[in-house]
Formats: sequence, C-alpha cells, structure tokens
Amino acid sequence: MRIPLMAGNWKMHKTLSQALELVNALTGPLADVSGAGKAVCVPFVFLPPLADALKGTGILLGAQNLFWEDEGAYTGEISPLMLKGLCDLVIIGHSERRQYFGETDETVNRKIRAAMKHGLTPIVCVGESLEQNEAGETEDFVSGQIRAAFRDIGPEEAKKIVVAYEPIWAIGTGKAATPEEANRIIGQVVRATLAGLYGHEQAQQMRIQYGGSMNPGNVEALMAQPEIDGGLVGGASLKAEDFITLVRAAAAARN
Ligand code: PGA
Repeated sequence: MRIPLMAGNWKMHKTLSQALELVNALTGPLADVSGAGKAVCVPFVFLPPLADALKGTGILLGAQNLFWEDEGAYTGEISPLMLKGLCDLVIIGHSERRQYFGETDETVNRKIRAAMKHGLTPIVCVGESLEQNEAGETEDFVSGQIRAAFRDIGPEEAKKIVVAYEPIWAIGTGKAATPEEANRIIGQVVRATLAGLYGHEQAQQMRIQYGGSMNPGNVEALMAQPEIDGGLVGGASLKAEDFITLVRAAAAARN
C-alpha cells in the first residue's frame, strides 16, 4: 500500500522567527500521527535552523529548488551537495519556477538526476494551465511533462521519486480540481504514463500527490480518492492548525 505524503510548500513566506514558530506548533500535534508522511518545504535560509528544530520529530524537511551542478561559478545557486544531509526532499519543477524562472522540461530532468545522485527525494511537479485545460490538452501535456521529467531515469531511481499533479489554475486560487477529476488525471494520465515507462506494478507503488488549493474543507474528499497519495500544499501549510488538519486527514484516509 502507498503511504500518503502531506508536504507543505511554504513558497517565499515567513521570517525565520515565524518559521520556527510554525514548526514548533506542528511538532507536538503531529508527533502521534502515523499513516502519513509529513514534510515542510521551506526557503533555503531556513533549512539549517529547521533541520535542528525538526530533528527526531518525524517531520521531513524539504527545499524548494536546487541547481544541478555540485559546485562552480553559478552565483546565487544552491547545489545538491549543499543540501545533502540538511534536508530529505526537494521540490523540482514547480509551475511557479517554470513560469517565472525559465525552468523547462530539460532543466527539470537535470535537477531530478542531480537530486537523486545525492540521495535527495524529488517532489516533481507537473500540471496544465487553464488555457490547456480548456483546450482539452491536459492529458497530452501532463503525460509529456512526465516523460520528459523521467528521461534517462532508471526504475530503481524512479521508484523513489514523488510526483505532484498541480493544475496551474488551481494553485493559490481557492478553486481546487474536483476530487474525481484530480483522481482521473493522476490515475489515467500520470500513473498510466509511469506505467508505460516502468511497468504497471512499479507505477502502482509510486506516490503521486495532488496540489492546488487543498485545504481543510476539501482534503477529506480529495484523500478519499484512491489515486491521490497526499498533497503538496501552499496556502494551507502556512497555518499550523490547517496543516495539522490536512496531515490527520491524509493519515485517516488510509487507516
Ligand atoms: P496552494 O499551492 O495550495 O496555495 O494552491 C500549492 C502549490 O503551489 O504547491
């Protein structure tokens, strides 16, 4: 059985003192929640202090990006070697990075391979725009993103990768995909494409999250869908109470 993973994506929010306050509010209530993985993906500068604060709590720590080279003349970038040992996960190819920072399917693939090389677990984001959705292009587009992301990645590596299906029109808009539609795209497009690459059995074992306005009001319905293995959560991960509700719902859905 796949264990869901509820991961907060804090994006570019909070000061260091607010970040510490938030994780300190999460650790107690989440300590006894089993049945779902839990993680916070935070800005780079918060990683060292949060790595200390989260030690032994069962809450995983993630970065939101990396560069693919180990070191070199790349001003302002962060390498996987620097993240190694500091965090467990790294978000790769979030639609905001594709949209505002020029990330492409090719750079996403390079980043995934760099993360894997250093033992970091990628959360790879895919998802269509509103225009693509309305034009009926979702299936082809998302399937293409998956094939490009997993290029030259063998089955043993692929197994460890988490995918997040995040329709761009649902991110930060308060308008989540319906549970049925999210389930359909995750099952019939994302997982089916992975099955084409790695076989049915392996695809069944891979974790695929939903992301896009997941919140305490819709989490139960989303998690009731069999294909949805947790969430990548922006807005609702910034408030301890909301995020605790999401993690509990993910755990309850599979118990
Ligand atoms: P949201 O963001 O939950 O605020 O819609 C999700 C994400 O971008 O990962």
